[in-house]
Amino acid sequence: MTKSLLDFKFLRQDSIFKIIDQSLKNKFDYSKNRQKYLTEKFDEAIHGAACLLFFEPSTRTRFSFEMACARLGVHPLVMDNLAGSSLEKGESIEDTILNLEAMKPLFFVVRCSDSTDMSEIAAGLNAPLVNAGWGRRGHPTQALLDIATLFEKWVAIDQKNILFVGDVRHSRVFSSHLELSKIMGYNLAYCAPEEFHLTQSNSGGTVVKKFDQIEEALDWADGVITLRVQKERHQDGQHVIKGLNSEEYRRDFGLNTARAKLLKPNGVILHPGPINYGIEIEKDVLKDSRSVILQLVENGVFIREVILKRAISGE
Ligand code: CP
Repeated sequence: MTKSLLDFKFLRQDSIFKIIDQSLKNKFDYSKNRQKYLTEKFDEAIHGAACLLFFEPSTRTRFSFEMACARLGVHPLVMDNLAGSSLEKGESIEDTILNLEAMKPLFFVVRCSDSTDMSEIAAGLNAPLVNAGWGRRGHPTQALLDIATLFEKWVAIDQKNILFVGDVRHSRVFSSHLELSKIMGYNLAYCAPEEFHLTQSNSGGTVVKKFDQIEEALDWADGVITLRVQKERHQDGQHVIKGLNSEEYRRDFGLNTARAKLLKPNGVILHPGPINYGIEIEKDVLKDSRSVILQLVENGVFIREVILKRAISGE
């Protein structure tokens, strides 16, 4: 059975717990004895190649999927945007994937914009497809690695209050958390300038708690996820942000050390990256003991390793 992961429609709570448990167990084993972990992985290596297609830029997601492939013994064939491919000659993304599937890869990992219909592509494939960031529609492996990191900190996340600060309207990370929070039982809220407020269409009709003042929002929160202003998704004709003033944004919504003091002592500070320092977050906040920003990147490899293994085995 094909085990694509485009969103959380087909993942139940018990499967998500298993993914997180296995990822954190792998992390423990890896940190205890890296050589033993890698040798065991090598012995059970899957052997074969997979297509990692990034039609939008990426550092963390791309390299963590490549790293996960390396640990599983799968050879990653990476397409990095258009460069050097027949996309430069006008071939479509759909045709590109169809032709690559003829070479029988183990799976596809795809990052693309909203204008590509990832669902339709996945439906036409025999190999599983894993969503590595689809426009503003979703980034499920990022949401999974976020909550795996919260489990590491808190053991449980049921009824925890997770605050997003920033551009939720254009954020695929927020979209995936909107889905995942309903399955895992955590509460979401956001604090953002009006231009970034959720609309009916991008909340799917779900009413999400909204704060106007970041201080009040941080007081409510157990964890805070600060978001990058998603400038690349603002020119869609509908949500053009006119003259977004970085200084005003920083003043009203930026997370700095003074504001971080309002967060609970066992609170957690996250950012999916890349970061615009001095706009949505100050560099000093990274030194706060509650910041898990680089821990997210570390955990991303373990989550993706488990997701790819599930995709290959069709579990
Ligand atoms: N968090 C995230 O998706 O980062 P990249 O765009 O660098 O992959």
